[in-house]
Amino acid sequence: METTVNSESPSNLTAPDRNLALELVRVTEAAAIAGGRWVGAGDKNRADGAAVDAMRSFMDTVRMNGTVVIGEGEKDEAPMLFNGEKVGDGSGPDVDVAVDPIDGTRLTAMGYDNALAVFAVAERGSMYDPSAVFYMDKMVVGPEAADFVDLRLPVKQNINLVAKALGKPVEQVTVCVLERPRHEKLVEEIRTAGARVKFIMDGDVAGAIAAARGTGVDMLLGAGGTPEGIVAACAIKATGGMIQGRLAPKDDEEKQKAIDAGHDLDRVLTTDDLVTTDNCYFAATGITHGDLLRGVRYDKDYVHTHSIVMRATSGTVRFVDAEHRVEKWDRWLKG
Ligand code: FBP
Repeated sequence: METTVNSESPSNLTAPDRNLALELVRVTEAAAIAGGRWVGAGDKNRADGAAVDAMRSFMDTVRMNGTVVIGEGEKDEAPMLFNGEKVGDGSGPDVDVAVDPIDGTRLTAMGYDNALAVFAVAERGSMYDPSAVFYMDKMVVGPEAADFVDLRLPVKQNINLVAKALGKPVEQVTVCVLERPRHEKLVEEIRTAGARVKFIMDGDVAGAIAAARGTGVDMLLGAGGTPEGIVAACAIKATGGMIQGRLAPKDDEEKQKAIDAGHDLDRVLTTDDLVTTDNCYFAATGITHGDLLRGVRYDKDYVHTHSIVMRATSGTVRFVDAEHRVEKWDRWLKG
C-alpha cells in the first residue's frame, strides 16, 4: 500500500513523504554497484561517470519533485546531476536534493577503504547555499559533547571538552582528520593537546558520520568540501551529535565572491543552518569497505551491497543488506 501522507504533518502533502527514506537506498545501491565495478581500475572519471549515470536512472523512479542543490557542479561542466537539475518522477513532495554519487572517487579508483555513494533529500529550500565557496572548516562530535564545543575555541579546549563530556582521558580521544598539507598545524595542535589523530585519505562524509556516532573516532576536525558538510548535516540530524562549519574560501577571488553573495565569513554555521528542517533523509551505500559500511561484493550470481538509511524526524537509522541478481545489472556491470 502506498503511503501518501506525511506522518508528522498529515495535512501537508508538499512535505517529504515518510516512504522516501527507504526509496532512496535503491538510488545509492545503484550508484555503488555501477561505480564499484571500477574499484581499483585507476580511473576516477569512469568510476564517477558510471555512478552518476546509475544514480540518475534510479533517482527518476523516486516519487518526488526534486531539485539538485548540491550536485556534480554547474551545468556546463557536469552533463548530469548539475545544480538546478530537476530529478525524481515529479509527482511527489517538493524537495532539495544533494547527491554525491561517489564520496571518495580517488579511494574508488585506487581500491582504498571508505568510498560511499551518498544521497540526501530535505524539504524544498532547507539546504544551505554555499555559493562559490568549496571548502569549509568543520567540527563534528557526538551527542554527549554537542552542547559544549565551539569552533571558535582553541583546538585544545574543544578536545578537553569532548574528553570531559565522554568521561575519558584526553589521550583516549581520537580525532578524524583529512590527510592534507593544509592540516599540518591542526594535527600538531591535536597531538600537543594529547589526543590521537586518525587520518583519512578522502571521504569526510563517512568521517563525519563516524564522529557523530562515535564509531572509532570521537571528533572530526579540519577543512573539507562544503557540499559534503551539508550532506553530512542531513545524516547527523538523524544520528544525533552536531556539525559546525565556517566557510573557508581558498583565495581572495573566492572570498570576494562569498562576501558579494552576502556570506559572513566569520559566522559559525550549525547543523540547523546547514539544513534548516528535520524533515530530511539520508542514504549511503558502501563502494569500498569501510568502518561504517562494507563495500560492494560481486560473485557469480549476486552483487551484495551494504547501506545505511536514515530519517531525521524520527531519528531512525537502518542498515540494509541487499543481494542483487547479477543478470539484472548487466548494463551497469559491463561498463
Ligand atoms: P570526491 O570524491 O567527491 O572528490 O571528494 C572526496 C573528498 O575527500 C571529500 O570527502 C572532501 O570533503 C573533499 O574531497 C576534500 O577536498 P580536497 O580533496 O580538495 O581536500
